[in-house]
Amino acid sequence: MSFLSETLARVKPSPTIAVTTKAQELKAAGLDVIGLGAGEPDFDTPENIKAAAVRAIEAGKTKYTAVDGIVELKQAICAKLKRDNGLDYEPKQVSVSSGGKQVLYNALVATCNPGDEVIIPAPYWVSYPDMVLLAGGTPVAVEGTLANNFKITADQLEAAITPKTKWLIFNSPSNPTGAGYNRTELKALTDVLLRHPHVWVMTDDMYEHLAFDGFEFCTPAEVEPKLYDRTLTINGVSKAYAMTGWRIGYAAGPVELIGAMRKVQSQSTSNPCSISQYAAVEALNGPQDYLAVNNETFVRRRNLVVSMLNDIDGVTCPTPEGAFYVYPDITGCIGKTSKAGTVITNDEVFATALLEETGVAVVFGAAFGLSPNFRVSYATSDEALLEACTRIQTFCAALS
Ligand SMILES: Cc1ncc(COP(=O)(O)O)c(C=O)c1O
Repeated sequence: MSFLSETLARVKPSPTIAVTTKAQELKAAGLDVIGLGAGEPDFDTPENIKAAAVRAIEAGKTKYTAVDGIVELKQAICAKLKRDNGLDYEPKQVSVSSGGKQVLYNALVATCNPGDEVIIPAPYWVSYPDMVLLAGGTPVAVEGTLANNFKITADQLEAAITPKTKWLIFNSPSNPTGAGYNRTELKALTDVLLRHPHVWVMTDDMYEHLAFDGFEFCTPAEVEPKLYDRTLTINGVSKAYAMTGWRIGYAAGPVELIGAMRKVQSQSTSNPCSISQYAAVEALNGPQDYLAVNNETFVRRRNLVVSMLNDIDGVTCPTPEGAFYVYPDITGCIGKTSKAGTVITNDEVFATALLEETGVAVVFGAAFGLSPNFRVSYATSDEALLEACTRIQTFCAALS
């Protein structure tokens, strides 16, 4: 019998980390690698936020804090939810963790029993299904289609709901597609949830501020206030404020659920980093003008990548509303043979051949639950993107 738990055997290691590791190995071996796999902005954390952290250190804010966050940060989160989302929350309805990832994990561990189903629209962020499995639940993927820009419809959601459904995990703009649900599309989903009072919604709003071309971000509890009592609204500072390493994420929701999440955290990691919490207060309360400046850069890069990928025969790349990813469909490349002689049987083989033959690292679609595709993170310099897309074009042009 294995020493390791049966639960762990059901979980796979993160494919995005596997791609990064392989790319690093090839780089160390001397290959000129361009990484388009990382899920983080290439910008530095803004100076005012760094300064707030320095002030916190100097003021001795270096001790344990309340398990689920300092009051100042909870107040800043409540103010943010009111300002940006029109949602009313009190500090006792808020929990702060070491990244959005821990928030999601706490919520799933606090609520899932064996047999509970969690609906996850695919393609999805790689961690959702495995976190559900770790928590003892059963992930139920519902596939969006290329024709609907990878979004699911109300009918698909309705069909996936069973008496065992506990949660819908909702993520817009999405990792890995960048697709955003507009108010009408989201209302159609929340209307379905109204008909199924036993289903709760966990909304991952991590890419809220990365929305382009006038796309209006919206979140379930705001679109359908009747869902307020069964919505967990999750967000964080990692992506919008270029703070991935600081590890601060948060959730707002019903007091009982927030208390249960605190209990999980109190017996695992305790409070998130005290210094990062003070930095996050500044991120949320301080000036927000660089968000628009960063978005201009992201839009320029997105347009470059989408246009260069759509120039390739056999590749179709929708233009996403937000985040910093695109998710091209490569149906037209499957079955062909690369210049070095690899038969492209699926998107994992495509991504491996692309990396080995051109040095461009992308993450294959199967990792996100929808194939054949790959994910490009365009949170890197224009020069690197231009060079990477040129190499992808050359690789695809040589497929026969
Ligand atoms: C959709 C989504 N949710 C949550 C996270 C977790 O973010 P963090 O734990 O850095 O706050 C990520 C990070 O990649 C993400 O893409």
